[in-house]
Amino acid sequence: MTNLPFFQSAGYVPALLAPMAGITDRSYRGICRALGADFSYTEMVSAKGMHYRNANTNALLETAPEEETFGVQLFGSEPEILAEAARALSDAHEARLAVIDINMGCPAHKIVRNGEGSALMRDEALAGRIIEALVKASRVPVSVKFRKGWDEAHVNAVSFARMAQSAGASLVTVHGRTREQMYEGRADRDIIAQVKRAVRIPVIGNGDVFSGGDALALVRETGCDGVMVARGARGNPFIFREIRAALDGTPYRPPAPAERIDMALSHARRHIRDKGPGAAAELRKHVAWYANGLRGASDLRRRANAVESAAELLELLENFKRGLLS
Ligand SMILES: Cc1cc2nc3c(=O)[nH]c(=O)nc-3n(C[C@H](O)[C@H](O)[C@H](O)COP(=O)(O)O)c2cc1C
Repeated sequence: MTNLPFFQSAGYVPALLAPMAGITDRSYRGICRALGADFSYTEMVSAKGMHYRNANTNALLETAPEEETFGVQLFGSEPEILAEAARALSDAHEARLAVIDINMGCPAHKIVRNGEGSALMRDEALAGRIIEALVKASRVPVSVKFRKGWDEAHVNAVSFARMAQSAGASLVTVHGRTREQMYEGRADRDIIAQVKRAVRIPVIGNGDVFSGGDALALVRETGCDGVMVARGARGNPFIFREIRAALDGTPYRPPAPAERIDMALSHARRHIRDKGPGAAAELRKHVAWYANGLRGASDLRRRANAVESAAELLELLENFKRGLLS
């Protein structure tokens, strides 16, 4: 564990921000890290896109100042192309790049039909060749993120984790749902516990952490070495403080409504600095998440969907905040 920076000390259970395509860009990752996320990964990056030097792919590799160390998540299905990407990443980012993760869990049709993401759970031999090739090519530890299995009739997370360990992975992250479930139903904690018992490398548990209490239950029930949060962090980067408080057994004070909107404002400003005038459209969903449950949220959502510029969006948020305080 010592070569993975988020295991700060023996017994420390880190809380990691999950990769989420279209959401965990560098501005949001920076915010989550500032609020206590112990680690963060890029959105999933196409190894083929790196091979063809695609400009959009390269933009995904930019990091936030708070990411003193970070992980890149790659997806692909060809061992040589993935290995080439790992070599290039090791060369370009070695000082701060702490982990290269390989996505073997994405359920999206357009990924799976290319034999990528969770499709690799159906071909352990190919998955093993990919991991071995990456481990050989990379100068930083390699991790694998996968699911419970393809469907309830093909639950193979335990054998998959053993295979990943034998192939040289330093860490695995397990999302307790099958591909067939996509994001429906409850994530299965028992499968994470089974994986934890089956391997020596650290196991990060993932699925349905929406509060500090959820994180604590996940750790207690599975023995996992870290927790990874995806949807629970949308509009709520404060969750990392809440999780730390729950794991440490210290009190947590949730943010007041105006604090949530202040966070939305600093997120928006960062994002606008990063992405320019086009940022407003991408920020709409974040604004809705930050305001979720607050008085006037549906009106704010409607107005946010109608704004035509970033400046208008900032003004809208400022006015909303004033309304909350009045
Ligand atoms: C919008 C969205 C985008 C996602 N993108 C990725 C991705 O790029 N790579 C990945 O490994 N998982 C991705 N995931 C899956 C999450 O990382 C996580 O495994 C899953 O949402 C379960 O965690 P949760 O219950 O905390 O949301 C994505 C999930 C969502 C909702």
